[in-house]
This record gives sequence, structure tokens and C-alpha cells, in this order.
Amino acid sequence: MTEGTADAAGLPEDIARIFRLDGQRAVVTGAASGLGKAIALGYASFGADVACLDIDLEGARETAKKITEMGRESTAIGVDVRDWESVRASAEDLLSWAGRVDVVVNVPGINRRKPALELEPEEFMEVLDVNLKGIFHCAKAFGELMVPNGHGKIINMASIFGLVAMERQAAYASSKGAVVQLTRVLALEFAPHNIQVNALAPAYFATPLVRQIMEDREWYEDVVRRVPQGRFGEAWEIVGPAVFLASRASSFVTGTVLLVDGGWTAA
Ligand SMILES: NC(=O)c1ccc[n+]([C@@H]2O[C@H](COP(=O)([O-])OP(=O)(O)OC[C@H]3O[C@@H](n4cnc5c(N)ncnc54)[C@H](O)[C@@H]3O)[C@@H](O)[C@H]2O)c1
Repeated sequence: MTEGTADAAGLPEDIARIFRLDGQRAVVTGAASGLGKAIALGYASFGADVACLDIDLEGARETAKKITEMGRESTAIGVDVRDWESVRASAEDLLSWAGRVDVVVNVPGINRRKPALELEPEEFMEVLDVNLKGIFHCAKAFGELMVPNGHGKIINMASIFGLVAMERQAAYASSKGAVVQLTRVLALEFAPHNIQVNALAPAYFATPLVRQIMEDREWYEDVVRRVPQGRFGEAWEIVGPAVFLASRASSFVTGTVLLVDGGWTAA
């Protein structure tokens, strides 16, 4: 029997606790709303202290307040992920608050849903600036903070549209496809530092980002028809997959894209 293991199968004695995040210092960008807010609160429920970053500082403060009410430590930091200097400054604030960083979740995303023939080149770039450049900035600035620790987790928010196509998603799907590839490259580069880098790929979840679709009955029904589970996801349903990728439960998982899509891409 290996030392420190529960039995001859080599299971760690605390195998039932490998999803716990007690004592972890996590940073969630996009924590003011939607999936980022759910992940920040979910991580606190699993024992982590969480820095809430967002361009919407007031919203980030509200999430941070909820986390402190749960008995965990939290702080809110304003950041515009499109702007490298802003991200660098937030990394300094983060380090002085946290001392170290164990988990980085890069969530902010926007969309401009239009047919390519109607989409302005400026709109195309607006989406790439947040969804792709923002993730590169944050993975670089916050990932660097984890290198001296010799461990860490980076989780990037992709989408099913990083893997499959849909009309009116030229900018969004391009950005998310690139996030998938960026995640794979970062997984290779961070592997020697024992930092795992993975992506989450949700289908539609009921958040402010998809209000335009939820308010258009025909569009909403067209989307739901494509989901074998026949519905949108609820924000809390991103927490389990996000906890898995942040925790010891995924210690040998890197460079993957975890689909959270109610079966959309299986059909
Ligand atoms: N909701 C869905 O159906 C869905 C599906 C697949 C993927 N996603 C992805 O999940 C992520 C979160 O989406 P959501 O639905 O929670 O959206 P949301 O609009 O509810 O939240 C996005 C958050 O990002 C912040 N943000 C926007 N631009 C920013 C910037 N420049 N700098 C810092 N923060 C910024 C916003 O203030 C907001 O708090 C996005 O990357 C999105 O593409 C969402």
C-alpha cells in the first residue's frame, strides 16, 4: 500500500474531498453577472476565497459582499479585460490582496448576433477584443502569478460555438473557436509548472447575455429544439463543471473543452 493512501487501489485518504476548494485563492473575471457570478459564489460554497473582477465594479462588489456573508474572504477589483494595462494593474491589486493565486477563471464575453453581411468590421473586432484578447490578457497576467507556486488552474470560458456553427455567430463563434485553441496551447506551455488549463463550453444558459433570444419566442423555440434536454441551462448548473476544473478532481486533466450543453453537440 502506498503511503498516505486509503487502500491498495492507491486512492488518497481524502478521496471524497477532492472537489473541495478549502483554502484556495480564486480569481473570477466577469464575476458581476451571469455565469461568472454563479462560479464565484459556487467556489465560495466549496471553501475558496474569491476575488471578483469585472468592468462593472458595482456588480463585482455585490458578488464579493455575498461571498463575505458566506464567511469566505472576498474583494472586488475593477478591470477592463480588453486593456492590457488595466489587467496588469488588477494583477498587482490581486496579489497584494491574496498573497498568491491558485485558480483563475476567465469569463467575460459579449456577442453581436447578426448575419455576416450585416455585421460591421468594428463590431467583429469588439467581440474579439473581449472574448479572445481579454482571455489572453488574463491568462498571461494571472497565470504568471501562479508559476512560482508550482501548481494552479486556469479555466477559460468558451462556448459550444467554439466547436459547432450557427447562423448570426460569425464574430462570437470565431472568438470562441480561438479560445479553444488558445486553451490547448496554454495547456502545453503551463504543464511543466503543474498548472492545468481547460475550457468550459456551455450551450445556452439563462443570463443577461442571451436576453435578446429569450425575449423572441420564435428564436427561443428554435434554439430549444436543438437541445436534447429541451431547455436552457440555469446558472447554477455551470458550478459543478467549474468546480471540477478548479479542484484536485481534475489533477490529470488539461487542454480539454468540457461541454455543458444539454446534449446539443451530441445530436
Ligand atoms: N449565457 C450563455 O448562454 C452562454 C453560453 C455559452 C457561453 N457563454 C459565455 O459565458 C461567459 C459569461 O456569459 P454570461 O452569460 O454570464 O454573460 P453576462 O453578460 O451575464 O456576464 C458577462 C460579464 O462580463 C463582464 N464584462 C463584459 N465586458 C468586460 C470587460 N471588457 N472587462 C471586464 N468584464 C467585462 C460584464 O460586466 C458581465 O458582468 C461569456 O464568455 C459567454 O460567452 C455564455
